[in-house]
Amino acid sequence: MNVEKVLISADEIAAKLEEMGKAITADYQNKDLLIVGVLKGAFIVMADLARQIELPVEFDFMAVSSYGAATQTSGVVRILKDLDQEIAGRHVLIVEDIIDSGLTLNYLLKSLRVRRPESLEVAALLVKEGIERTPLDVKYTGFTIGPDFVIGYGLDYAGKFRNLPYIGVMDQSSL
Ligand code: IMP
Ligand code: MG
Repeated sequence: MNVEKVLISADEIAAKLEEMGKAITADYQNKDLLIVGVLKGAFIVMADLARQIELPVEFDFMAVSSYGAATQTSGVVRILKDLDQEIAGRHVLIVEDIIDSGLTLNYLLKSLRVRRPESLEVAALLVKEGIERTPLDVKYTGFTIGPDFVIGYGLDYAGKFRNLPYIGVMDQSSL
């Protein structure tokens, strides 16, 4: 398996997260913000984005089932780890690594909305374009990318490559 090319460099990601962090800081002034990371993919984005937010934020995590070793969505979403805390009346910001079909996020939003948060928004580093998906309202988007399968910066292929400091496109011939 090889990385075919660097799609988004570490510097470009850092600049984008700084921008997103500034927007979030401005939007949540005097609000009690809870950031929810979707494991495992979001752990790196969450860590780096959170350090660009100048507010006394709190953190929680959810884990949902995703692709396994395949590169196509199964359409099946399962909560493997739920939030530790109640979110009723809280301002909740979900942090995602990537939105592809939107199935994962759509399911998450539905299951969190019924808990009556004061607000519920989404920040995603990557959104794939040109894919038929449930219309989703993503308030903070980093980069819109094409349909290629990408790895790095939290994103895996078969559990690996999450620690690449950039977003890379995989050499499809080695899939
Ligand atoms: P969705 O439900 O189709 O939006 O898929 C979302 C999840 O699929 C993400 O949180 C990732 O775990 C995984 N995923 C989607 N596209 C990619 C990709 O290009 N590389 C690595 N993981 C991906
Ligand atoms: Mg994943």
